[in-house]
Amino acid sequence: MEFSIRTLSPETAKTGCVVLGVYTDRELTAPARRVDQKSKGALRAALADLSGRLGSTLLLRALPGVAAERVLLVGLGARKEFAEAAFRDAVRAAATALRELGAKDTALFLVDLKVAERTLSWNVRHAVLVLREAFYRFDELKQKKSPALSLERITLPLPPAAALAQALAEAEATADGADLARTLGDLPPNICTPTYLAEQAKKLAREFKLDVEVLERRDMEKLGMGSFLAVTQASHQPPKLIILHYRGAARSAKPVALVGKGITFDTGGISLKPAAEMDEMKFDMSGAGSVLGAVRALAGMKAPVNVIGVVPTCENMPGGHATKPGDIVTTMSGQTVEILNTDAEGRLILCDAMTYAERFKPDVVVDIATLTGACVIALGHVASGLFSNDQKLADEVREATDDAWDRVWQLPLWEDYQEQLRSNFADFANVGGRPGGAITAASFLARFTRNLRWAHLDVAGTAWRSGREKGSTGRPVPLLVRYVLRHAGRK
Ligand code: BES
Ligand code: MN
Ligand code: ZN
Repeated sequence: MEFSIRTLSPETAKTGCVVLGVYTDRELTAPARRVDQKSKGALRAALADLSGRLGSTLLLRALPGVAAERVLLVGLGARKEFAEAAFRDAVRAAATALRELGAKDTALFLVDLKVAERTLSWNVRHAVLVLREAFYRFDELKQKKSPALSLERITLPLPPAAALAQALAEAEATADGADLARTLGDLPPNICTPTYLAEQAKKLAREFKLDVEVLERRDMEKLGMGSFLAVTQASHQPPKLIILHYRGAARSAKPVALVGKGITFDTGGISLKPAAEMDEMKFDMSGAGSVLGAVRALAGMKAPVNVIGVVPTCENMPGGHATKPGDIVTTMSGQTVEILNTDAEGRLILCDAMTYAERFKPDVVVDIATLTGACVIALGHVASGLFSNDQKLADEVREATDDAWDRVWQLPLWEDYQEQLRSNFADFANVGGRPGGAITAASFLARFTRNLRWAHLDVAGTAWRSGREKGSTGRPVPLLVRYVLRHAGRK
């Protein structure tokens, strides 16, 4: 799929399909009005069959006075209500219709619509991200593949400008990163193992000339990562701690560290999960996937930043060697933890990974984890949970998410919650009971990040979809990329 920015007229564009927007009450957008004039009212005549309801579509062929083979009309809803979500819905509806067509190329005359307070760069980024998301397929493991997409080229009809070219490059790289995260998430847990993730990181390193390091079990033992090792000890798959360095800025610029939970399958361990929907615990490496995806995106667009991806990855299995509820382990930080529930394993691998990340003297650390079912109960599948020990950082992340339309909601990290982690036998326990489960999980991590400016994203509700549309979403790659770019001063 190739995108380009070029000045075009909707009536003379020689393309397989011209996409035009129509608001409710048959209110035409400027390019639609122009096509209507050139076609001597043929467009307006066809509008009897289009409601203008957001996401509705109507395909017209061989419109008189129009060079394109097809005109695809897309309902935009009421003009007064047209904002970010509506723009994305309209582009998605266009993508769904375009999938079914034989057109090889198309010109998207939706891209210059006024979207609330957003700039054209925002429109370009979101048009590309939504289209790429809509055309994503995961059928490599099916004998019968879905038919190949005939669409090869998409023109965004806008006057060329440096800012727009940059937005396009950023969006395409972000889409590549989100694609990678989705593919890793969708891959089954017998293929996407810790070793596989390490191989993918090495592949990224070769392709984008990054430095990569993969720590093995014996390295972790030497480092004293008793907590991480407790999670992996019943698995037949070797654990890995992957470190990826992307250097796009001066050596003196402190890096942003992204730390992703990489449980390639979470059975719960001895605190075994129920059978129903356990397959979805293959997505428990989504945080890791989003870190690899974000690094790929930033390296792909040659972003002027230093980023370190840190990915602790292993399986959480039951077995004769498994950690038992009541076991006490010593973390790399020296703090001891009573493991009361082996299913609260994400925090056990993340805490050692974040202690390890301290050696890179990062400016900020952001961890991304499918950490708690409680976060899904609190925020559903719309917002990821945001926690931070630094309000300025939390605000920066929140602003980036508005921009990326990959949204988060902040929850408190007050000391009051630490009480729930009290243990009679160790420094603290790894679980704090059901009340505020997403917050006590974050509070556990906070005990390992006292020396860091740190934010935690709980993506348990947003990293994948269940049911008929089951699959990875690629979130929060767009958010991470936007955050890092804004952090480096790019708007
Ligand atoms: N990976 C799960 C969290 C999860 C569960 C994400 C369901 C999405 C859907 C995590 O490792 C886990 O099992 N958390 C436990 C923590 C509890 C034992 C304190 C949970 O949420 O039930
Ligand atoms: Mn678990
Ligand atoms: Zn888990």
